[in-house]
Amino acid sequence: MSVEKESPERLKKEIELLKKERGAVIMAHYYQTGDIQDIADYIGDSLALARIASQVKEKVIVVCGVHFMGETAKILCSEKTVLVPDTDAGCSLADSCPADEFEKFVNEHPDHTVISYVNTTAAVKALTDVVVTSGNAREIVETFPKEEKIIFGPDRNLGNYINGITGRKMLLWDGACHVHEQFSLEKTLKLKKEHPDAKVLVHPECKKPMQLIADKIGSTAVLLKYAGESDAEKFIVATESGILHQMQKEYPHKIFIPAPPSDSTCACNECSFMKLNTLEKLRDCLKNMSPEIIVDEKIIEKARRPIEKMLELSEKIK
Ligand code: 13P
Ligand code: SF4
Repeated sequence: MSVEKESPERLKKEIELLKKERGAVIMAHYYQTGDIQDIADYIGDSLALARIASQVKEKVIVVCGVHFMGETAKILCSEKTVLVPDTDAGCSLADSCPADEFEKFVNEHPDHTVISYVNTTAAVKALTDVVVTSGNAREIVETFPKEEKIIFGPDRNLGNYINGITGRKMLLWDGACHVHEQFSLEKTLKLKKEHPDAKVLVHPECKKPMQLIADKIGSTAVLLKYAGESDAEKFIVATESGILHQMQKEYPHKIFIPAPPSDSTCACNECSFMKLNTLEKLRDCLKNMSPEIIVDEKIIEKARRPIEKMLELSEKIK
């Protein structure tokens, strides 16, 4: 028996009503489906979402993104209720860095400063000196003296990229994102041949060969801004395909083409975790005030400082 889909218009009305009733604010990452991006009060990259979470007045924050994004909001505002429409929305990159193994690695290098990408669990952040996102990693690494010994985790591609542009030799954790590592260099080059006037936009979680053909490397927000500021009319986009919704919405006269994954039979440039969130689940979480993000108090205490440090540093280097 097929289950009838609820009308999006009706769902949106219910969400607006429930949001008012609950005194909630809705934040969405650029990788969410278009309908969720359109109904959100705030939309942004990981850095913007962390910044906004630390500033909003509302007592209930709904994070339409993945689990670590909900945790980041909870760590920054532990007195608030943080909801995520589907708490199974994990992250392969965060999963590639289990806290116990990372702790062992950190303990083996006691003279190192620990810099962690925001795509980590709260427990990994609790082992960290300063958190970064792809939007501020370079600038934050450069606030440390050249000779500083640094551990960088968990993304090896972002870590290698930052090492390359800063001349550092940070020790890297060997983690990666299953979506960003899927892009095919060969197919992207073929696409570029068909569209020689297109600029190639690449997220730094992609492998080095993809980075080497990029006209711009950056976080989702950086790529979006570049697409607006560039004179080019066409872009090949090597990051999760959700960003295309916002690119097309903000620059309707420009053309955005998703970079092809190696396996053309799958939708591998979609993050299956991000796409677990739906309008129905967003409505239900506001209705039931669940699922809620819960983080252990002791972990919150340790993980707050490195995130706040990131926010302070990125204010200074803005
Ligand atoms: P941004 O920090 O660019 O938003 O990226 C988050 C993410 O999950 C990338 O895969
Ligand atoms: Fe994690 Fe990759 Fe999904 Fe980003 S795209 S949330 S890094 S699995």
